[in-house]
Amino acid sequence: MEQNWNVLKNACMDCRACGLCETRHNVVFGVGNPQAEVLFIGEGPGENEDLQGEPFVGRAGKLLDVMLEAVGLSRKHNIYIANMVKCRPPQNRDPLPEEQAACAHWLSEQMRFINPKIVVCLGRIAAFHFISPDFKVTRQHGEFIEKDGVLYMGMFHPAAILRNPNQKPVAFEDFVKLRDKILEICTRTTLNFDD
Ligand code: URA
Repeated sequence: MEQNWNVLKNACMDCRACGLCETRHNVVFGVGNPQAEVLFIGEGPGENEDLQGEPFVGRAGKLLDVMLEAVGLSRKHNIYIANMVKCRPPQNRDPLPEEQAACAHWLSEQMRFINPKIVVCLGRIAAFHFISPDFKVTRQHGEFIEKDGVLYMGMFHPAAILRNPNQKPVAFEDFVKLRDKILEICTRTTLNFDD
């Protein structure tokens, strides 16, 4: 398992399937525990992520970490975080359809390996792809939707919460719902860590 994961990661790190490989500093493969039962999916790397090679390390990422920690979750231990697109589009433009298409199989393979019980879609774009093209984050955030035996939940994107801080309490309720669902259905997930 570990060996296959490393093979996948190494292949992704060398990917040159679209033009984003010309401008990226780092491929942002993902971070966390590949044996986690909970997978978070974001949209794509921004400037900080591109420079550091890790998802959600800017201001939005710090907010995500604070909310995660408050419910006993941590990117170091009991979740995995990946983006739909692995390389930063220049000037943070939206990835082109052909860039998304060239990249999609990396996340599919990560999902196949991780085989999560719960998938959290951070923001509209991930929810559009993994839950439904009709998904409305403002109305449906925090709801669990079952697909093929996996529970999907859409949440506000942490960058959206930074832009609209009065959403913070409502957004945090979704983390509490997530924690409750983990306690209900996840058998291998230990909550709470000292670091
Ligand atoms: N936004 C995302 O969707 N992903 C990141 O990694 C950072 C910001």
